[in-house]
Formats: sequence, C-alpha cells, structure tokens
Amino acid sequence: MVDIVVLATASLIVQIAILAVLIASYVLKSQRRYRGHGITMLVAFVLHLTTIFTVMLPRLISYLSSPGTLNFSDASVIISLLHASLGAIGVSMGGWLAASWHLSRDLGPMFAKKGIMLPTLIVWIAAILIGIYVYLSLYYTIIVG
Ligand code: HEM
Repeated sequence: MVDIVVLATASLIVQIAILAVLIASYVLKSQRRYRGHGITMLVAFVLHLTTIFTVMLPRLISYLSSPGTLNFSDASVIISLLHASLGAIGVSMGGWLAASWHLSRDLGPMFAKKGIMLPTLIVWIAAILIGIYVYLSLYYTIIVG
C-alpha cells in the first residue's frame, strides 16, 4: 500500500500546480487570449478531478466511516470539511463552465457566463489554499521531524 504521506504530498504538489494553472489562466484572460484561458481552465479541472478521485475522496470516505473521528468541536475537522465543500463547489462550477464551452470557436455564450467565473475562481482558489493549510497541519511535523 502506498504510504498516505507520500500520496498526500503528491496531491499537494498537484494542488500547487493547479493554483499556478489557475493564475496563468487568469493572466491569459486579462490578455484577451480567451481560447488559452478556456483550455487552461479545462486542464485545471481535469487535474483537480483526478486528485479528488484518487486521493481526497477515498480519504474523506475513510474519515467518515471511522467512528469518533467526526468531532465537530474540533476546529481542524471543520476546516477540513470547509476545504472539501469549497473544493466540491469550485470543481463542479469549473467543470460545468468548461463542459458548457466544448471548445467552440463562438465565445459569445462564454462571455454571457463571465459573471459566474469570478466567484468560481475565488471559491476554487480558497479551497486550494485551505487544502494547503490542512496538509501542513496534518503532515508538517511528520515531514520536518
Ligand atoms: C472553468 C472555470 C473557469 C473559471 C474559474 C474562469 C474564470 C474567469 C474569470 C475570473 C474571468 C473574469 C470575470 C470578470 O471579469 O468578472 C473570466 C472571464 C472570461 N472567461 Fe473564464 N473561467 C473559466 C472557464 C472559461 C472557459 C471554459 C471559457 C471558454 C473560452 C472562458 C472564457 C471567458 C471569457 C470569454 C471571459 C470574458 C472576458 C472579458 O470580458 O474580458 N472561461 N473567466
């Protein structure tokens, strides 16, 4: 079985890569390179979905199914659930935006959706930043020693 710290660290590296892709995608949007913006958002969505299904969802299920771990008076549990909820919302909205584009040359429908894009980006980035905090609070002492 792959060690959970190795898996979580690999997932962290991918999260940081996703953050970089999201920032690069926003820069492309600012330069009016909308096709590049759309493609990079699609890449961020696929990367995030992959880590959710390979690492995060199995961890969440194992937490929820082990009795006594879900203690709502524990701040780290609340922060982890906040991370999971924001991540699910950000990825769902991002996935819906990317899927509704289907690489079309006609960007008119995407301009009409730009009002949803900024909240999506904010929720998505917040989920990743909280995820980095969760990782550090769980594994920092193990890694640093
Ligand atoms: C998948 C998640 C996506 C996120 C998080 C996102 C994020 C953003 C953000 C933050 C803006 C600026 C909104 C504003 O100025 O209020 C924007 C604008 C825009 N995006 Fe996206 N976007 C996404 C997907 C896409 C896709 C797939 C396309 C397809 C090409 C696209 C095309 C556009 C266009 C045309 C604009 C308008 C730009 C303007 O008016 O200057 N976006 N997006």
